[in-house]
Amino acid sequence: MRFARVYSIAAVFAMLCVIGARPACAQGAPEASSPGGTLTVNVRVNEEGRPEYSIRRGKALIVDWSRLGFILSDQHKLERNFEIGAVAKRTFDETWEQPWGERRYSRNHYNELRVTLREKVDAHRELNVLFRVFDDGVGFRYEFPAAFREVNIVEELTEFAIAEPGTAWWIPGGEWNRYEYLYNRTPIAEVSQAHTPITLKLRSGVHVAIHEAALVGYAGMWLRRVGGERFKAVLSPSSSGPKVRRAAPFATPWRTLQIAQDAPGLYMSDLILNLNEPNKLGDVSWVKPFKYVGIWWGMHLGANTWASGPKHGATTAETRRYIDFAAKNGFRGVLVEGWNKGWDGDWFARGDAFSFTEPYPDFDLEGLAAYARRKGVRLVGHHETAGNIAVYEKQLGAALDLYARLGIDAVKTGYVADAGGIQALGGDGKIHFEWHDGQVQARHHLRVVEEAARRHIAVNPHEPIKDTGLRRTYPNWVAREGARGMEYNAWGNPPNPPEHEANLVFTRMLAGPMDFTPGVLSLAGASGQQFPSTMAKQLALYVVLYSPIQMAADLPENYAKFPKPFQFIKDVPVDWSETRVLNGEVGDYVTIARKNRGGDDWYLGAITDEQPRRLRVSLDFLDEGRRYWATIYRDGKDASYERNGRAIDISTRPVSRYDTLTLDLAPGGGTAISIRTTPGRAAPRSSSKPKPAKKPPPEFDVE
Ligand code: NOJ
Ligand code: CA
Repeated sequence: MRFARVYSIAAVFAMLCVIGARPACAQGAPEASSPGGTLTVNVRVNEEGRPEYSIRRGKALIVDWSRLGFILSDQHKLERNFEIGAVAKRTFDETWEQPWGERRYSRNHYNELRVTLREKVDAHRELNVLFRVFDDGVGFRYEFPAAFREVNIVEELTEFAIAEPGTAWWIPGGEWNRYEYLYNRTPIAEVSQAHTPITLKLRSGVHVAIHEAALVGYAGMWLRRVGGERFKAVLSPSSSGPKVRRAAPFATPWRTLQIAQDAPGLYMSDLILNLNEPNKLGDVSWVKPFKYVGIWWGMHLGANTWASGPKHGATTAETRRYIDFAAKNGFRGVLVEGWNKGWDGDWFARGDAFSFTEPYPDFDLEGLAAYARRKGVRLVGHHETAGNIAVYEKQLGAALDLYARLGIDAVKTGYVADAGGIQALGGDGKIHFEWHDGQVQARHHLRVVEEAARRHIAVNPHEPIKDTGLRRTYPNWVAREGARGMEYNAWGNPPNPPEHEANLVFTRMLAGPMDFTPGVLSLAGASGQQFPSTMAKQLALYVVLYSPIQMAADLPENYAKFPKPFQFIKDVPVDWSETRVLNGEVGDYVTIARKNRGGDDWYLGAITDEQPRRLRVSLDFLDEGRRYWATIYRDGKDASYERNGRAIDISTRPVSRYDTLTLDLAPGGGTAISIRTTPGRAAPRSSSKPKPAKKPPPEFDVE
C-alpha cells in the first residue's frame, strides 16, 4: 500500500495583534505554548529595549530571560532600543514520511510565534524572531527582512540562560580536533566552550539538549558559558572579518532546545528534522540504505597503507577479495580508500596532491566497478581532501561524473585538517584558511551534496560540519562522522572508553546518523591489545548508533573466525519503521529496539559503560497474538571490556509481547537481539514454528 507523503495537514493562521491596533499587545510579553501545553515561550523587550525570551515547562522555568540580537560590522548592532512590533501566531500539524530513517512517520506539530522587533532609534530597523513551540522542545530563528540588503555578522548575541543547576555532557568547541573529543561530564556551571548538541540534566531531572537545525549558508554555533548556567552563542570564525556575510532577506539556522523528562525522551524527539525544510530532491528512491565492508581497518592498524608501495591496501586483487566477501555475505558496498593518486608522502599536509579521477596503477577502477556490479555489489567511492576544498571543488564535477558513469552511487568524503585548516579559494583568487564549521564549509558541504544528488550519489563526509537535520531536505546526505568513531580504537590514545557510545547516543546522535563503523569483532587495536569493548557490544552498536549506512569494519579474515556473531551483522537491517528507547541514562547505558522497515522483525541493542548492569526490558512493543524467535547475543561469563571481551553467549528461543527479558551486561559490554517472525539460521534446526500466543505465557528470563 502506498502512503501519501503527507497525510494530514492543518495550519491555521491568525494575526493576533499589530502594534498600535491593541495597546495591550504592544507592551505585553508575546507568549506561545506547545500544542499539548507542555512548554511555553515568552518574549519581551526589557527596560533597556533588549529583546529576550524565556521557556517554561509546566510551571518550571527552564530557560530564564535570555538575550537575542547581533553585532554587525557595517551597521549599528541589533541589541537594544527595541520595541515589540507585529506579533503573529499559527498552528501547524502534519505527519510526513521519511524516505529512510529511525522511523517511517514523523509528526510535526507546533504552535508558532513570530515577533517583529522594531528599533526605536536610528533607521527603525525591523528584525523578526520566529519561535516554533513543540511539546518536546523549542526552535527559534531570526529573519532578516529585505530592507537589510546585506548583513555582515560579527557575532550572534543569542543566550541560553539555563534556570537550574545540573550536569552537562559536552565536547569542547573551537579546539584543534574538530568534533573528535571524549565527552566531559561536569556541572553545567563548569562548562567552558562547547560544541552542540550539548546535553544537560537539570537538578529537577528534566533533560535539555541545545543544538541547531538547518545550518545553511551560516556559521556553526558553539556555546560559551558566560557565568553560572548562562550560555552565549559563539559563531565559528571566518577568514574574512565578519563570521557570516549574507544578502537579505534570509533566515538564520534554528536554535533548538529539546526538552524531555528523561534521556530516552530526548532521543525520541524529531524536533531537529521537523525544523528542516521538506525533501527538495523529489524522487529519492535511488538513495539506498546499505551495509558495507571496505579496505579500511587494515590501514588504521598499520598493516596496510593508503600510499602506494608494498603495503598498498587498494590493489585490484585485494579489492576483488573484498567484493567476493561482500557478495557472499550480503553486503551491498565495498569502500576502497587509497585508490587514487595523492596519498604518497605527507598527505595530511598535501591536499593539493590529490587527484580524484586517477587511480594508482595497481588499482583497476573500471574493471573492479564492473566486477562488483556483476556480483550485485557497488564500490563505495572515497574522496579524502585533507581539507583542501579549493583543489576538491575544482575537480568535483569530473570526480562525481566518473563515479556516476561507473555506477558508484555513494561517496565517503574526508576533511582531515586541524580546525581552522580548511583551504578555500576566496573571491580574491587567494587561498583562505577556514573552519570545519564556518560559513564557507557549510556552503561547501551543500555544494557537494547537491552536485552528488544531480548524479544520484549519496554522501558521507568525515571530519564534517555537524549534522543539523539537513537529511530531511537532502536525503542523499546519508551519514557523517563528526565524533570519535571506531578508528580511535585502532590508534587513539586513549581509545574510546566504555562510556563513549552511551554518551554518543544522547549527545552526538541527537543530531543525526553517524558513520561510526562498528563491528570490529576481533577487538584488537594496532597494538594488538583488546580495546575497551566486548564482542556483544560491537553487535549492539548496529542498533544503538543509528545510520542508514553501516560498515562491518573488521577484516574479512577476522569475520571468518567468528561466524556465529557475524551472523547478527549479516542479519541486522539499516532502515527502520519504528524506534523505541526502552531505557537509558546519558553516558551510562541505553537499550533501543527498532523495527525493520518493510518487515515485522525487531532488533534490540543494549550497551553499558564500565559498570555491569542488569536491565529488565518488556517486549510489549511486539505484535499482539504473534510469537517470535529471539536470537540473543550476550556477553559471555567473565567477559569485560578489560579482558575476555570476545566471550559471547548465543541462544535462540521463542518470545512474545508478554515476555520481559533480563539483560545482563558485562562491564563495558552489551546485548544484541534479533527478534524475528521466522527462525533465523542460528535457530535450532529441529525447532518448529512458534504458535501464536493466545494468553500470556509465564514470564521468561534470559539467564
Ligand atoms: C579519517 C577518517 O575518519 C577515516 O575513516 C579515514 O580512513 C581517514 N581519514 C583517511 O581518509
Ligand atoms: Ca576522523
